[in-house]
Amino acid sequence: SVIDVAAFQKAGYWTYDPGFMVTAPVESKITFIDGGKGELLYRGYPIDQLANNAEYLEVAYALVHGELPNAEQKKAFYAKIHSHTAVHDQLRKFFEGFRRDAHPMAIMVGVVGALSAFYHEGFDVNDERHREITAIRLIAKMPTLAAMSYKYSQGEPFMYPRNDFNYAENFVYMMFATPADVNFKVNPIIADALDKIFTLHADHEQNASTSTVRLAGSTGANPYACIAAGIAALWGPSHGGANEAVLEMLDEIGTVENVPAFMEKVKSREVKLMGFGHRVYKNFDPRAQVLKKTCDEVLTALGINDPKLELAMALEKIALEDPFFIERNLYPNVDFYSGIILKAIGIPTSMFTVIFSLARTSGWISHWLEMHSEPFKIGRPRQLYTGETQRDFVKIEDRK
Ligand code: ACO
Repeated sequence: SVIDVAAFQKAGYWTYDPGFMVTAPVESKITFIDGGKGELLYRGYPIDQLANNAEYLEVAYALVHGELPNAEQKKAFYAKIHSHTAVHDQLRKFFEGFRRDAHPMAIMVGVVGALSAFYHEGFDVNDERHREITAIRLIAKMPTLAAMSYKYSQGEPFMYPRNDFNYAENFVYMMFATPADVNFKVNPIIADALDKIFTLHADHEQNASTSTVRLAGSTGANPYACIAAGIAALWGPSHGGANEAVLEMLDEIGTVENVPAFMEKVKSREVKLMGFGHRVYKNFDPRAQVLKKTCDEVLTALGINDPKLELAMALEKIALEDPFFIERNLYPNVDFYSGIILKAIGIPTSMFTVIFSLARTSGWISHWLEMHSEPFKIGRPRQLYTGETQRDFVKIEDRK
C-alpha cells in the first residue's frame, strides 16, 4: 500500500528501512518482478521469451521506448546505434593515464565518467532529443569502451568497431581480433551466448546500481556521470561483481574433493557461496533458468573439458541438495551461470563485471529517461541518528 507522504511529513515521521527491504522510492513502467513466482518481465514481455527470440538491441529498444520495434523502427534504431559506436580519439589518451594492470572496472568508471566531459557543453536535460541521443550514444559506445579497457590491459592496439557485425559479434571482434587478423571470424556460439547474457542482464528494476543511477540523476547531474556512478555500484561482489567472485571462489576451492570442507565454511558463515541467493528471488531466478540451459549448450557445443567448470557443476549439485540452502531458499542466481559461460567462451575473469555493465547500460539509461520524462524529486533519504546528544565545545587543553 502507498502511504500519504505529506501527512507523514507533517506529523514528523519517516520510515527506518536499512537496505531498502520494503521501500519503493519510485513508480516505474519498465520492469516487473514477482520474486515469489520467479517472474521477470521487461515492458511486459517475459524474460525467457525475449532471451530466446530477440536480439539484445531489440530488447534495449523496448526498454528505452516501451515497445519492441517493428521492422522499420528496428532498422532506424540499429542505424543510429551504428553511427555512434566509435569514440573520440582523445579518449585513447585518457586510457593511457591508467596503470596497465588497472582493473577494467576501474577503467570503465573513469572513462564513462569522462564522457561527461565530452558531452556536457550545450547538453539540455529538459530537451527530449538530447536525452534520446544520450541513450543511443551510451548503448552504442559501451562495447567499444569495454573492449578498449581489455585491450589496454593486454597492451594490444584498440580495434575500431565493425558495424557489419551485430552488437555481440562486434564486441567479440573488438575484444579478440588484432590488426593482423584480417580474416577474423566470430564464433556464432560465442556471440549468441553473449547476446543472451546481455539481454538477461539488461534491467532488474531498482537494484543497487539502478537506484544509484536514479539517485545521481535526481540531482540533474550529467547522465554519463550518473551511469559511471551505476558502474561503480555494480562493481561490488554482492552485486555485479558476483560473477567474477564465482570464479575466484572456484579457484579457492580448487578440486571437487574440497567442496565438503568449503561448504562447512559457508555454513559457519565464514564465507558466502558466490552466485547463490538473491534479495528478491526466493524460489528461483528466472534468468538463471535460461542461462543454465545456455550453459549446458555452450559447454557441449564447444566440447570444453575444464576442471574448473566441472567443479562448478559439482558445487551446484551439492548445494541444491543441501538442507542449509534448501531451508534458506538459496538457488544459483544469474551470475553463477554467466560466470561459467564467460569462462568457457574465453572471456578473462576481470572482464565479467564489465560485460554486466555493458548489458545493464540500456536498463540504467531507460530508468534515467523515465525519471526525466515526468516531474521528480531529488532523492534525499533520512537517517536514524544514534550519535551523541547536544554537548558543549571543549577547548583542546581541557580535553581528556
Ligand atoms: N551463501 C551462503 N549463505 C547465504 C548466501 C550465500 N550466497 N546468501 C544468503 N545466505 C544466507 C544468509 O547468511 C542468511 O542466513 P541466516 O538467516 O541463517 O543468517 C540467509 O541466507 C538470508 O540472507 P540475506 O543476507 O538476508 O539475504 P539478502 O537478500 O540480504 O542478500 C545477496 C542477497 C546479497 C544476493 C546474498 O544472497 C549474497 O551475498 N549472495 C552472494 C553474492 C551474489 O551472488 N550476488 C549476486 C546477486 S544477483 C545480481 O546482483 C545480479
